[in-house]
Amino acid sequence: MNGSPQFNWNQHAADLKSLLSASAKIKQEEALAQKTTMRLGGAARIYVEPASKDDLKTLFIYALSNKIPVLPLGRGSNLIVPDSGVDAIVVYLGNDYFSQFEVLADRKVRVGAGLRLKNLCGLATTAGLAGFEFLEGIPGNIGGALRMNAGAMGGWMFDVVETLDLMTLDGVFHTLKKADVHTGYRHCSELDHAIALGAVINPATPQQSDVISRQIDVYRKKRHESQPREPSAGCIFKNPENDSAGRLIDVSGLKKARVGGAEVSDVHANFIVNKGGATSADVIALVRHIRARVSEVAGVNLEPEVLLFGSNWKSVL
Ligand code: EPU
Repeated sequence: MNGSPQFNWNQHAADLKSLLSASAKIKQEEALAQKTTMRLGGAARIYVEPASKDDLKTLFIYALSNKIPVLPLGRGSNLIVPDSGVDAIVVYLGNDYFSQFEVLADRKVRVGAGLRLKNLCGLATTAGLAGFEFLEGIPGNIGGALRMNAGAMGGWMFDVVETLDLMTLDGVFHTLKKADVHTGYRHCSELDHAIALGAVINPATPQQSDVISRQIDVYRKKRHESQPREPSAGCIFKNPENDSAGRLIDVSGLKKARVGGAEVSDVHANFIVNKGGATSADVIALVRHIRARVSEVAGVNLEPEVLLFGSNWKSVL
């Protein structure tokens, strides 16, 4: 429908250029592969980097009234972009306006959705604020970490959140207290149909910078030893209750199983790595193969953790 030649993407791009501020970036057929850690998939029909909250609001209202889907993109570390790309407006909060790091009273920190987790940890270390180290190695930004309730090393993003700022797809801005946000394992319901703009994160514990750095190094070492370096989307499946998807895929004999350029990592079996030239069709075929085999061997139905951008796994599995 939206992908049909009759759908006038040129007109929509031109309209957006006239509606948004001069500092907003608006592009057509923008390749997404290099904006994801998996390094594959097609283009965004329209790609926008708004320069302010007002730009974002204008964009959402325009998209809603023209029935164009809007897809927020974070650092692209937890998603598979379909080979045909996405018939949507992809929104990336890459402008500095969205990347703030501001230490408030009581050592709370206001962070913007566009701030990379790595930068958060660097800035917090310099400021002598401990408590965010577990986020360091996650290749994402605050927005994506909120959307996915990202976790590592025993900590989850929403462990450290006090309030969440978001804009719903009708352009309305909200600040929610953590108690009013519904989160679970790799999920935040309020962000299913909204974009995270930022958060106030918990009062951190004062600590000497070198002590914080040492803790970050411990996590980094652990990650380097247990996870592959090749392009991937992180863990591909959710862990089933009381078990590990990686362990189950491993005992099902699937390490190095391959479809096209996509391969099950031999470092950690819950990672599909792009060995070069992988397509989203390769990854989807490999996901199906893994699910079938793990179900046969271990009797467990694994559910994907990564997002299929602009689509859903049910439609392809
Ligand atoms: N294991 C195997 N074979 C493998 C991989 C793992 O036997 O190929 C075993 C390990 O030996 C260990 C167990 O499975 O006993 C769990 O493995 P690991 O400690 O690596 O943790 P995980 O549950 O596989 C989770 C998160 C990761 C996060 C790590 C470290 C999920 C799906 N994964 O992995 O998150 O980095 O803990 O905290 O929750 C992500 O979400 O993308 C991600 C990478």
